[in-house]
Amino acid sequence: MRRAAITAVGAYLPEKRLTNADLEKLVETTNEWIIERTGIQERRILSRGKGSAYMAIAAAQDALRRRNLPAESIDLVIVATVTPEHPFPATANIVSHAIGAHKAWGFDVEAACSSFLYALSIASDSIAAGRVQRALVIGSDKMSSIIDYRDRATCVIFGDAAGAVLLEPTEEPVGVMDYLHQADGSGCTFLHMKAGGSVLPPSVRTVRNRLHYVYQEGKQVFKQAVVQMAAVSEALMQKNGLSPDDIAFFVPHQANRRIIEAAAQRLGLPMDKVMLNIDRYGNTTSATLPLCLYDYQEKLKKGDNLILATFGGGFTWGALWLRWAF
Ligand code: UT7
Repeated sequence: MRRAAITAVGAYLPEKRLTNADLEKLVETTNEWIIERTGIQERRILSRGKGSAYMAIAAAQDALRRRNLPAESIDLVIVATVTPEHPFPATANIVSHAIGAHKAWGFDVEAACSSFLYALSIASDSIAAGRVQRALVIGSDKMSSIIDYRDRATCVIFGDAAGAVLLEPTEEPVGVMDYLHQADGSGCTFLHMKAGGSVLPPSVRTVRNRLHYVYQEGKQVFKQAVVQMAAVSEALMQKNGLSPDDIAFFVPHQANRRIIEAAAQRLGLPMDKVMLNIDRYGNTTSATLPLCLYDYQEKLKKGDNLILATFGGGFTWGALWLRWAF
C-alpha cells in the first residue's frame, strides 16, 4: 500500500525574543501569571518588512537540505497559514518560486490553528493516490502582524515561526496512517479577526477601532480545545486499535500548557510522552506541530507511533496517526 512518509523536517525561528519581562512593560501582566496560566516564557518575533513567506522559504530550504534533495524534485507545495504574505496570490506560489520548485503546483490552506494538520492530510492523500511524488507542507505564521500589543489576553500567547515537512511515497507501513478531522462553524465568533475580509474591508474606521487583530474569548476556546482534542484523538486511536501504550508521543497543538496537560490526562498519556515546546515559542498557530517534530526528531525512531492533534478557530480540530519513517 502506498503511503506518504515524512522524510525530513525543517524550521525557521526568528532571532528576536519577546520575553514575559518585555510584556510586563507593554501591558498589565506578570511573568508569574503568564507562566501559571499558559506555560509560556518567551516567543520569537519576526522583524518588520518580512512576512510569512520569508520564514516558510527558510524552513523549506532547511528540510530539503537535510534530505539532500533539489527543489526541482518537488511536485506540490502547500503553505498552512492564517497570516499569508498577501491576501492573494498564495504564499505557496511565492515560496515555490523563491526556492526553485519550478515543477510544483501549490496553494495555501487556512483553517486557523488546524491549518498544518489539514494541509498535511491533503498532501498525504495526493501522494497515496499516486498523483504526487514529493510534497512540501509548510506551516508559517507571523502572528505578531495580527496581534494587538495592548490586549493582554492575546498578546502574551502568540509568536512567529515556520516549520516544514518533506513528504515522499513509501510502500512500508510508516508515514501518515489515518486521520479524523472535524469543524463547527458555530464557534466562529469566539476566535476570529473582525475586519480585513470581504465583509469589512480595511478602512480608516476598522483601523481606528482596532478590528484587524486576533479577537479571542479565551475561556470558551479553552474548554472546547480540551474536550475536542482529546475526543478526536481517542476516536482515532480506537478506530485503529491503538492503546496509550502503543503511542511513543502525543503531539498536540501548542496553545496553552494547561490545555495540553488536560488533553493528555483524558487520553491516559503521561507527560513524558507529550511533545512540549510552548515555553520557548508560545502559540505559533500553523507552525506548532512541525516545530514539535523538528525539536523532538532526535528522540524518534523508525516505526514510532505519533498522534498529532489540533484545535483552533472555526472551530476546526482533528487528529492524525503518523508512524515515524526515519
Ligand atoms: O490556538 C488557538 C486556540 N486558542 C486557544 O486554545 C487558547 C485558549 N485559551 C487560553 O489559553 C486561555 O483562556 C487564556 C490564556 C487566553 C486566558 O487564560 P484564562 O485562565 O482562561 O483566563 P481568563 O480569560 O478567564 O481571565 C482570568 C483573569 C481575568 O481577570 P478577572 O476578570 O478575573 O479580574 C483576565 O482579565 O485573568 C485576567 N487576564 C490576565 N491577567 C494578567 C487575562 N490575561 C491576562 C494577562 N495577565 N496576560
